[in-house]
Amino acid sequence: MKRLLTNIKKLVHVENQPVPYLKGKAMNDLTSIDDAFLEIEDGKIVRFGPMTDLHGSDISGTTEYLDCTGQWVMPGLVDSHTHLIFAEPRAREFEDRIHGLTYEEIAARGGGILNSAAKLAEMPEEQLYDDAMARLHEMIQTGTTAIEIKSGYGLSTEAELKMLRVAKRIKRRAPIPVKITFLGAHAIPPEYKENPDGYVDLVIDEMLPKVVEERLADYIDVFCEKGYFTVEQTDRILKAGMAAGLRPKVHVNQFNAIGGIQTCVENKAISVDHLEVMDEGDFKALANSDCMPVALPSCSFFLGIPYTPARKIIDSNLPLALATDYNPGSTPSGNLLFVWSLACIQMKLTPTEALAALTHNAAYALELNDELGSIAVGKTANLLVSEPMDSLGHIPYHFGRNSLSRVLINGNKYTH
Ligand code: NIG
Ligand code: FE
Repeated sequence: MKRLLTNIKKLVHVENQPVPYLKGKAMNDLTSIDDAFLEIEDGKIVRFGPMTDLHGSDISGTTEYLDCTGQWVMPGLVDSHTHLIFAEPRAREFEDRIHGLTYEEIAARGGGILNSAAKLAEMPEEQLYDDAMARLHEMIQTGTTAIEIKSGYGLSTEAELKMLRVAKRIKRRAPIPVKITFLGAHAIPPEYKENPDGYVDLVIDEMLPKVVEERLADYIDVFCEKGYFTVEQTDRILKAGMAAGLRPKVHVNQFNAIGGIQTCVENKAISVDHLEVMDEGDFKALANSDCMPVALPSCSFFLGIPYTPARKIIDSNLPLALATDYNPGSTPSGNLLFVWSLACIQMKLTPTEALAALTHNAAYALELNDELGSIAVGKTANLLVSEPMDSLGHIPYHFGRNSLSRVLINGNKYTH
């Protein structure tokens, strides 16, 4: 099947020379084509250019047209950090926070991740799958065209494997690319409170071999944070993961800078995520590395914690990706369009920089950059068509509103 998008007002982020990711000033310097066409065949981009290059004779009778007069077309967004599979929302804790408790205080009382783990243990796989798929379909409508999904609400071998099997089923059946991250080390379960290293041993010696044997994950993650996992424990888990073929992708520097970023970089992490609190050593560690910093501004918005210093990251000539962190505790939202707005409003990124962070760089954070992240021949036609607009800023400016008129997945109009 062929599809032809015509009269596109602006075709954004045309990649002339493939680069794995964009950093510093290059993030604000995306190439675009005015008054463009784009042709799709068998779900892939096969040709694009100015309308003046399109000749009647090129077009066969079986081509389906999509007239995009006044509309912008851009690469689909990529969500490189989510906890999509969970049993229940945590609205009670939301109210506790309104009454003054902090996220960390709620966790210390047995709420938080432990609360979600208790609920998940009871929920059947089928229900977890159905709920997560419903969330995924909702996310596609706000532009998400590839996603990462973590485990981490299991905290026992059995429950972690259950979560990862659900994730694998989603990966097989979802209409968009899915990558899976093993996050056995998300919190210390109550039975290991006095023996946290014992839990680290369980993650390394019992969970990890099973995860690898059943090929349930692409990456390994740890919540490296005071009260969760130390830098030394993180280092052990990442080394074991790497040795087993899982590249690190790590929760770090959410509340405290404890030296975790350096460890992640040493262990060849593909990304370090959160980074709300960063010191100079962290910036140094990231310079001269290929590790992608990932900011999660919806988490800062929801918890009222500092925003990742994204402006400083880009101005330091580093790359940056943006993701949702969709989860029931710190970010009950999978809306990347809202992330785009927060990036501009709260982090002072330009709409163009934020788009680069949500597409090209986010695809790098999932090692999907051969397939997605820019407009290039041979890439998958997961594309966004805006409503008619005069500037890219129109989309993040209208915060909380969906300014897309269409999402194309493998070249097909997405409907659900
Ligand atoms: O990325 N920080 C650690 N993990 C999640 C929150 C998990 C939860 O509260 O359920 C996050 O914010
Ligand atoms: Fe997270």
